[in-house]
Amino acid sequence: MFHQIAQTVATLLPLAAMANGSPLGLDKSADSGLGCSATSFGVFKWGISNFVFNSTVIYTTPAHQNSWGYVNFEVENPAVAAGNGRGHSEAVCSASSNRLNDFFYGDMPYNCTSAPSDRRTTTFDFNLDSRLLRLNESWVCSDVDPEYPTIFTAGGAVTLNLECNTKSWTNPNWTMGDIYSSTITTCQPVDLSLSPDQISAVA
Ligand SMILES: *[C@@H]1O[C@H](CO)[C@@H](O)[C@H](O)[C@H]1NC(C)=O
Ligand SMILES: *[C@@H]1O[C@H](CO)[C@@H](O)[C@H](O)[C@H]1NC(C)=O
Ligand SMILES: *[C@@H]1O[C@H](CO)[C@@H](O)[C@H](O)[C@H]1NC(C)=O
Ligand SMILES: *[C@@H]1O[C@H](CO)[C@@H](O)[C@H](O)[C@H]1NC(C)=O
Repeated sequence: MFHQIAQTVATLLPLAAMANGSPLGLDKSADSGLGCSATSFGVFKWGISNFVFNSTVIYTTPAHQNSWGYVNFEVENPAVAAGNGRGHSEAVCSASSNRLNDFFYGDMPYNCTSAPSDRRTTTFDFNLDSRLLRLNESWVCSDVDPEYPTIFTAGGAVTLNLECNTKSWTNPNWTMGDIYSSTITTCQPVDLSLSPDQISAVA
């Protein structure tokens, strides 16, 4: 049996509140005291931490480059208790790209990784030029009805305020086999909370 839940957050809150007192005790969110469903139907926000972009552009000859950009961050889902019983589930997101010149164009989804027992699937893309980070996630709550778990799907986006620093260096005395030039960009880590633009639940 499948039933589609299409109510608004407000109409679902009583249901979620009821789940709270349920003796099942599954999916207890670590420190809010609310269960997985109540947290998901409530004022849900992801916690994004340590967002870092960096890149190195290295020319090994005046004509030949080897360049990489990296994105790394973590996403906490406050509804999902970590499988190890300690705090909320954290997904680790990382991507590398050698597509010049911006590396990240917002056109390629990357997967984040989390413990399989956390039962969440997280993807993101990033556009370096506009600083737009987009996130999608689905997760499962079985604290209301373990037989018919609720699957949440949410998407959100944020324009990051990155403070980056670029250092360039050119070998004044280059000979074959040396590095001709390098440009290293590093950005200060960013932490923020992100509210989904849309969230839906299917049980
Ligand atoms: C950039 O990030 C990658 C991946 O986290 C790391 O291995 C590398 O050392 C960093 N480079 C710089 C220049 O910070
Ligand atoms: C992300 O995960 C999906 C589903 O497991 C897989 O099909 C896809 O190839 C993965 N993408 C990358 C970039 O690894
Ligand atoms: C997020 O989901 C939307 C809607 O399904 C999709 O169009 C978009 O490509 C997804 N983005 C990522 C980064 O997975
Ligand atoms: C460049 O190389 C020459 C010859 O080896 C040397 O005399 C000179 O000091 C070097 N210059 C610099 C800036 O390293």
